[in-house]
Amino acid sequence: MKATLKINKNQIIDKIDNRIYGSFIEHLGRAVYGGIYEPTHNEADEYGFRKDVLKLIKELNVPIVRYPGGNFVSGYNWEDGIGDKSKRPSKMELAWLSVETNQVGIDEFQEWAKRANTEVMMAVNLGTRGPDEARNCIEYCNSETNTYYANLRRKNGFEKPFNIKLWCLGNEMDGDWQICHKTAEEYGRIATETAKVLKWVDPSIELVACGSSDPNMPTFGEWERTVLDHTYDYVDYLSLHCYYGNKANDTLNFLARAEDMDKFIKTTAAICDEIKAKKNSDKTVNLSFDEWNIWYRTKDEEKTAPRWKIAPPLLEEIFNFEDALLVGGMLMTLQNNCDRVKIACLAQLVNVIAPIMTEDNGDAWVQTIFYPFMYASLYGRGTTLKATVESEKYTSSEGWQVPYLITSVVDNKERGELVIFAENRSLDNEMSLDVSINGYDNLIPIEHIQLYCDDLKSINTKDKAPVIPTNQKPSNTPTLKKHSWNMLRYKYGER
Ligand code: AHR
Repeated sequence: MKATLKINKNQIIDKIDNRIYGSFIEHLGRAVYGGIYEPTHNEADEYGFRKDVLKLIKELNVPIVRYPGGNFVSGYNWEDGIGDKSKRPSKMELAWLSVETNQVGIDEFQEWAKRANTEVMMAVNLGTRGPDEARNCIEYCNSETNTYYANLRRKNGFEKPFNIKLWCLGNEMDGDWQICHKTAEEYGRIATETAKVLKWVDPSIELVACGSSDPNMPTFGEWERTVLDHTYDYVDYLSLHCYYGNKANDTLNFLARAEDMDKFIKTTAAICDEIKAKKNSDKTVNLSFDEWNIWYRTKDEEKTAPRWKIAPPLLEEIFNFEDALLVGGMLMTLQNNCDRVKIACLAQLVNVIAPIMTEDNGDAWVQTIFYPFMYASLYGRGTTLKATVESEKYTSSEGWQVPYLITSVVDNKERGELVIFAENRSLDNEMSLDVSINGYDNLIPIEHIQLYCDDLKSINTKDKAPVIPTNQKPSNTPTLKKHSWNMLRYKYGER
């Protein structure tokens, strides 16, 4: 099979906001306890954070990590997780039907974030709580005033404010599974009033309002319109969430979900612009895709798992090779939509639907999806170019014509490199790629990384990793193996 890729230096989509390579840690299962935090582990630092896990996280270079949820945040009392650990309450946690010990809270998490070279993206509880607790929380985190909550932070040992710059106004408030789920009207009102108080306390922050928790929600579209009618002038981003699965065991159709994600993004951006036009506003609301991944094998697990356990193993999705292919494709979709998607969080980071897994008091290792994420995050920084693709197509279950080749092209000026991410979705045929690149001098192919495994269902475990990237000979006429993800790097000289 042949495909062509035409690239022109001047055909720019936009500069990538590095925050699209963000991730997510929720108080859920073993993400926090037994994941990032395990004071009894022989790799634990003075705070109880696992250094082996930190090392793997740093390899992903995630610029932001959303915290503390997720569904968890809609029942969370942030005050339970600060100060003297021996006085923190254990509580019934209603999102995941577990016991939350509160041994990790905002104090510890921002310390962890420093060690992980990342920034906290904080969510406030707009389920059981509202603007009052949110304004106290931001005073605690960000204020330098001589007032109660800022002083409480100082008393807890943190003289300098945490300066958390990105705040989510609740989580998935459109879903009836959410603790204190709301109608779009109810949410629009509480989000607006919370946005106002948060920005009064710290005008330098940015805010994310909840969009839809899935493109198949019956309220998708109307939810966004109503929420933005209320919040448009007060927020900076609208969120999108989406998890895909391959229950039908139809790999080609599964890999086409990268196109579904593209449609979800473009439709949501269009709705933001519809409200912009309606309000005759000069401001553009951009998108925060703050939960995305593959998740289907362990969905609803909490409903049947034993209840009221501390850090039970929940949502420990084991990813196979085809999952890594879709994650690679979804990253290309995010890069190709970088003019509107400014923030994105792979959900999640450790143990819970995660690229990194741990054993209690044991090893840490990486899953298949770790690799495309790592390469996109490390090398996919710069400006996305709009490439023209010619490739044979197949038909998805929706009747869409899906090109076998999915690609994104990033001009990374800092490194003086053009980076092509390219996936051949054909399950049978290799693809010879005819690449024509205009506008660059002395382009030299320097690296071809390939992620390929003959068995689409192969998984990596702590003892065995059949799905690992390999180096191929860099070439001006690369060949992409059947069902493979690839990164092609070219060095250029300045014109
Ligand atoms: O990431 C797991 C869960 O998925 C989150 O808690 C929730 O926001 C979403 O439904």
